[in-house]
Amino acid sequence: MKAAVIHEQGGPDVLRYEDTPDPVRGPGDVVIDVEVISLEGGDLLNRSILPVAHFPHVIGYQAAGRVSAVGAKVTRFKVGDRAVCFAFSGSHAEKFCVPEHHAFAVPDELDMRIAATMPVTFGTADYALFAAGDLKAGETVLIQGGAGGVGLAAIQLAKAAGARVFATARSHHAEAMRAYGCDLPIAYDKEDFAEVIAAETGGRGVDLVVDLVGGDAAMVSRLISAVAYRGRLSVVGLSSGEAPSIPFWEIVPKNMAVLGVLFGAEMHTPRAHAMLERHFASAGAGKLTMPIAAAFPLAEAAAAHRFVEETRPLGRVLLLP
Ligand SMILES: NC(=O)c1ccc[n+]([C@@H]2O[C@H](COP(=O)([O-])OP(=O)(O)OC[C@H]3O[C@@H](n4cnc5c(N)ncnc54)[C@H](OP(=O)(O)O)[C@@H]3O)[C@@H](O)[C@H]2O)c1
Repeated sequence: MKAAVIHEQGGPDVLRYEDTPDPVRGPGDVVIDVEVISLEGGDLLNRSILPVAHFPHVIGYQAAGRVSAVGAKVTRFKVGDRAVCFAFSGSHAEKFCVPEHHAFAVPDELDMRIAATMPVTFGTADYALFAAGDLKAGETVLIQGGAGGVGLAAIQLAKAAGARVFATARSHHAEAMRAYGCDLPIAYDKEDFAEVIAAETGGRGVDLVVDLVGGDAAMVSRLISAVAYRGRLSVVGLSSGEAPSIPFWEIVPKNMAVLGVLFGAEMHTPRAHAMLERHFASAGAGKLTMPIAAAFPLAEAAAAHRFVEETRPLGRVLLLP
């Protein structure tokens, strides 16, 4: 099969479109002929800095397509079914092989392009907001990094749950977040989000922060200052490229909870499957969505990664084999 393969880590140009062996299917695996690959924030990190098991390596978390083969122990899928699949690598290819518990049926009414973007974005957002963050109607939440895929999913889910939603983005995208349910967009390149939160909440802070950006000690301090006494901080991502470290003397006096989130470790669970089925139905009915900023042929994966890094578009970019 053809795939976008890396032989070393680095910038977008390490991606080479070439022939590589088909994935080896085990008895519990589902293989799809990939129709749409969603370029995830984490794909950029895997290409550039996060450790990978070996080279050559096919990166990529998420893709949707038609089931082309199933292992002998697979019970929920047959050849021809529509599915969106997740794995910690392998999506940037014509064929994607995942354990059955990481494959999700795509309902007929759901556009395959939207489906391809959903498990990681909406699943992570749901986990960070509710399973970890325990968000309830009437509470306030700050989404740090609201214009990305997980951020836009989190804004939509938090709004639907009855929360008051604040979200940060560059001024270029800040206002656009309103269309997805953000009550107060904060342009972090023009205003200090911690000051805005303090002013908007009478100095109390928000009940929950979902952090998709990370950053240095100064950024983490400002983020923690935006959390209310006994509030919660869901630590999800590091799209700034810097992993946050959590300062003892800032979290302990607040009696606040710091919650780590790795949705990939939860994705196989019945809870995650039921939750995603619900969100797929909502998306099929037009109640949830994900903006698609651009689509590139898989052969131009390097250009697609460069486009995402250089322009930081609103929502998702797709790769099409
Ligand atoms: N733990 C988990 O289970 C899990 C699951 C999925 C994703 N993640 C991680 O979560 C993060 C977000 O994922 P994603 O897929 O939503 O990424 P994405 O679509 O690439 O979005 C990243 C967002 O971060 C913002 N950003 C980038 N650099 C920034 C900076 N220096 N300062 C402030 N904001 C910045 C960008 O917005 P602006 O352009 O407006 O700045 C963009 O909206 C990634 O680090 C990803 O690896 C974790």
